[in-house]
Amino acid sequence: MQNITKKKTMNSKLYMVSLGPGDVELLTLKALNAFKDCEAICVPTKSENNSFDKSISYKIVSEALELLNIQKTIVPVYSPMHFIEKDWDNEAKIILDSLDKYKKVCFVTLGDAGVYSSIYYLLHRIKEANEEYYLNSEVIAGVTSFSAASAKAKKALCLGDEQLIIKPINPRKNVKTTEILMRPKIGMDTKELGEGDFYTFENLYLSNEIITPSKIDKVTRYMTLFLKFAQRDQG
Ligand SMILES: C[S@@+](CC[C@H](N)C(=O)[O-])C[C@H]1O[C@@H](n2cnc3c(N)ncnc32)[C@H](O)[C@@H]1O
Repeated sequence: MQNITKKKTMNSKLYMVSLGPGDVELLTLKALNAFKDCEAICVPTKSENNSFDKSISYKIVSEALELLNIQKTIVPVYSPMHFIEKDWDNEAKIILDSLDKYKKVCFVTLGDAGVYSSIYYLLHRIKEANEEYYLNSEVIAGVTSFSAASAKAKKALCLGDEQLIIKPINPRKNVKTTEILMRPKIGMDTKELGEGDFYTFENLYLSNEIITPSKIDKVTRYMTLFLKFAQRDQG
């Protein structure tokens, strides 16, 4: 019995799919391929009765499935967005149950998953409940609302020596900061970037991609960026 359970878990796949800001044409090919590959798509809804009447995510997913000419089981995930642990527990449980049942599952989120999305609260719980499901998960990046807004306005988010700030308008507690550090000089010593929860990304998505879960000492390629994550308890 144990073996059967293990085999089922090892073949699982959980895609955390970024949907972009609303236009189906702003979905990535990776997102469409995830929809093709999965058996079920978990779609958040703010409606207690699990209706999708007001759900932008459902609209995008439906349009994508129509475009691909495929049908998938849609699993509603009640997401009241009250920032309560219990709600994330319930949402993670629906995803875990869906993985048990369908094996290959997508969960969708608006914009990009890295920006004010619930997915890392959920992935944290999934990791605690089932390490294999977590290891077999993949986050698919997407177009953020502010990248799309910049394109609509035909105005750059940052030019030359400007920097970009993203702020929560109604923070619940002290605001912590994640820094994105771009455009390094080749040969630079990274001491000047300070210390913290760094990741270094070199040649992302290219054949010679290197991702280092810390700060490299010296920059050797222009296509290098650093993320200095806000200090968090989780995620
Ligand atoms: C919970 S955050 C999600 C952000 C999203 N993950 C992203 O990458 O843009 C929701 C906020 O994103 C912004 N937002 C997301 N989609 C938008 C859209 N289609 N039009 C305008 N603002 C949008 C609004 O400020 C909204 O209050």
